[in-house]
Amino acid sequence: MSKKILVTGGTGFIGSHTVVELQNNGFDVVIVDNLSNSKVEVLDQIEKITGTKPEFECFDLTDRQKTIQFFEKQEKLEAIIHFAASKAVGESVEKPLMYYHNNLNSLMNLMECMQEFDVQNLVFSSSCTVYGQPDQLPVTEQTPRKEAESPYGNTKSICEDIIRDVCKANPQLKGIALRYFNPIGAHESALIGELPLGVPNNLIPFLTQTVAGIRKELSVFGDDYNTPDGSAIRDYIHVVDLAKAHVVAIERLLDNQNKENCEFFNVGTGNGVSVLEIINSFERSTGEKVPHKITGRREGDIEQIYADTAYANQELNWKAESSLDETLLSAWKWQVNLKNF
Ligand code: WQD
Repeated sequence: MSKKILVTGGTGFIGSHTVVELQNNGFDVVIVDNLSNSKVEVLDQIEKITGTKPEFECFDLTDRQKTIQFFEKQEKLEAIIHFAASKAVGESVEKPLMYYHNNLNSLMNLMECMQEFDVQNLVFSSSCTVYGQPDQLPVTEQTPRKEAESPYGNTKSICEDIIRDVCKANPQLKGIALRYFNPIGAHESALIGELPLGVPNNLIPFLTQTVAGIRKELSVFGDDYNTPDGSAIRDYIHVVDLAKAHVVAIERLLDNQNKENCEFFNVGTGNGVSVLEIINSFERSTGEKVPHKITGRREGDIEQIYADTAYANQELNWKAESSLDETLLSAWKWQVNLKNF
């Protein structure tokens, strides 16, 4: 009998890629998603890739009664991977209450049900945004978290504290928080990928939509940073490498290999790449030109961050494998294939 994993937010960008990797590794998956930022057709795309359409329930995890009813109906769940959350930095500044309600109440409802229904393992979608602008680079897991740059980032820090405290009070519970850097790219099939609704906030979907002629021109938000080419630096990781890190984290918990009952890992490539280097790499790997201009900095952006991945590489025996060129080419193939949906 395959072990069953609940993936919340499983029709989203990182969630869908993680469901594929879980199924590829023999796990049975049930997805809960409220479809506020994803499409139900993603389930069919997952089935085309793996041959198995995941079990799916559509409801909002901030609804405590519906969440309890879901767990009452489920047979044994071995673990939960919790992606479902609001994640737009700018929107969180305008609507902080929505972000604190969505991101905190969904986690607390889940953890209450973990206790009530004896689900002992949780992998949480955290973010490097908890580090703010670090004083030292690359950032390790010991780098002190900083005052969040946004309510979104603050919800990630608070969620980490909730998981830590609940696992401490209930030793039968185990949690791993994966601190993502910048997930980009798409599955090699080009059947799933990043699908921002409306005008993209993030660099790569805006870039690929510009090259596809959907957007007029990419704005490079500032070239006056204290970096080699003046544009801001991030750690861009292929979403499939990131998805694989979730499978490894689940297996670590199921095999009781965790060293603490709440652990944190930086999930990045360890390479800092600037916006202008992204443009050059994209043009090199795809042969497409990226129409762009330099504009002023974006409010709230930090100058640079990239991961020290030694701890994750060693403890999880996991390492990001895709090159930047391969990753950007996969993003472009997904954008081109989107015309077929
Ligand atoms: C990357 C770089 C921009 C758009 C945020 C969240 C993080 C995660 C990913 C949710 C920056 C520059 C961008 C554009 C540009 N979110 N840029 N022109 O801000 O590093 O991270 O999204 O999980 O938690 O903090 O990602 O892709 O928005 O920006 O020049 O049109 O690209 O200034 O330097 P960011 P991003």
